[in-house]
Amino acid sequence: MDDVTQLAAWQALDAARRATPALKDMFRDDPERFAKFSVRLPGLLADFSKNPVTDEVRHLLVRLAEEAGLDEKRRAFFAGENVNSTEDRPALHMALRAPAQSVLKAGGQNVVPEVHQTLNRMRSFAEAVRSGAWHGHGGQEITDIVNIGIGGSHLGPQLATEALSFYHHPRLSCHYVSNADASDLARVLARLSPESTLFIVASKTFTTAETMLNAHIARDWVLSHYKGDMEAVSRHFAAASTNGAAVRDFGIAAHNMFPFADWVGGRYSVWSAIGLSTMIMAGPERFSDMLAGANEMDAHFRTAPFEANLPVMLALIGIWHRNFMGYAAQAVIPYHAVLRRLPAYLQQLDMESNGKSVTKGGHPVATATGPLVFGEPGTDAQHVFFQWLHQGTDIAPVDFVAAVDTEFETPPQQKMLLANLLAQAEALMEGNGETAAHKHHPGNRPSTILLFDRLDAQSLGMLMALYEHKVFVQGAIWNVNSFDQWGVNLGKAMAKTLELEMEAGVAGPHDSSTRGLLTHIIAKTGERLQEAA
Ligand code: F6P
Repeated sequence: MDDVTQLAAWQALDAARRATPALKDMFRDDPERFAKFSVRLPGLLADFSKNPVTDEVRHLLVRLAEEAGLDEKRRAFFAGENVNSTEDRPALHMALRAPAQSVLKAGGQNVVPEVHQTLNRMRSFAEAVRSGAWHGHGGQEITDIVNIGIGGSHLGPQLATEALSFYHHPRLSCHYVSNADASDLARVLARLSPESTLFIVASKTFTTAETMLNAHIARDWVLSHYKGDMEAVSRHFAAASTNGAAVRDFGIAAHNMFPFADWVGGRYSVWSAIGLSTMIMAGPERFSDMLAGANEMDAHFRTAPFEANLPVMLALIGIWHRNFMGYAAQAVIPYHAVLRRLPAYLQQLDMESNGKSVTKGGHPVATATGPLVFGEPGTDAQHVFFQWLHQGTDIAPVDFVAAVDTEFETPPQQKMLLANLLAQAEALMEGNGETAAHKHHPGNRPSTILLFDRLDAQSLGMLMALYEHKVFVQGAIWNVNSFDQWGVNLGKAMAKTLELEMEAGVAGPHDSSTRGLLTHIIAKTGERLQEAA
């Protein structure tokens, strides 16, 4: 079905929307609401009860998933069928965290052995760097890892590495460079020595403009230190990529090249060789725990009935908010400083996957698709945009993410953190009866709480895989391709033309705004060059 709005469940949901009681009233009328609308997995309590979903709406949402063919779409996804229709390939990131003895097939071939072959090579390399057995060209131990990548080759590893910082090897620091802006790499290199730095060029395609520019500058930096000795590149550079030929041409030795397959999408790639920086920093064991956590979520997603299925429920409630309540944005607030990059990671995961306007059948979608995703860690976010969440004219549902216990937190800090989280969710939902207009909190603002027993590598894996599958379910119901990203291509191609025009010092044919700005930049750059001469 290409037009989801024609499904019977959709139409019934549309009717149910008009009869949705206020959240406060739902709690008053049903003392069992929390028990009924929360899902428990080992180590995780997910509370959906503060969302405007009645028993009837939940039932209809599950029916919507059934009528939209979610069961069959999930089967095809795990079976390695070409669910990425425009690029004609599977999206089989679940194979990256499958235990060695399991079987997951892409193109009729079991891909799990090749996944474990690379994982084993990554482990040996990570151990060597951590132990000091792997050293720089001048014999020094590595002290700094610089991951050069962007998008999925940056955000997933950066999130995971920071989240696992308690486990970092004490000698090692990790830096993430993504932006084409010269200052991004320069600010990192300024503090490092080429003799003790290992660069990981993380790029699925090994052609991404920002990444390749930064990688070449980093290589020049190393080579100028070692007086052009190309041997130094094989000691100071490793690559995670699907493009073996380009990695070789860059000068990276075959034993430092960690491959993965093209059925791994960029934003789903942290589990692959793209996660090498995380594995080196937190250690192979922690990395395996992260894979195991994700694998547990895969098994849950694959087998649990829809109404008790965490990714399915998170997705369905998101659809209720987006398509029936009209909420265009979704906030994600981790109550944990080490999950600082979770919102950015989820922004790419969700918005690059489901920011689509055509169905898989090639027709314009009949309804809104992926929301705007935004967030910052709590409690910081409380002092930034919670005013808007509580009293603004728009409503954005919030996902609160926290852990009861962590390696980092001392009890008083942890209590304050969790008390704030609970208070915010309660205040958003309850509001207050304040009569002074400016102090009035209307309440009836939805939230979901994902509360882990503990933040560790395993729960981090569960969390990231939970959102991956949520995004899959929503894409399946809207019938969009969640695994391509054609929307980023046009700007990339146009930037290349503009760069050439800047180099030539001649503005080509553009709209008057672009041409005016380009002419201004060319003139200013010329003045600077003249001044410098
Ligand atoms: O933003 C577009 C994109 O293709 C992402 O999907 C991807 O994660 C990123 O660029 C980086 O691509 P690569 O890993 O090939 O350098």
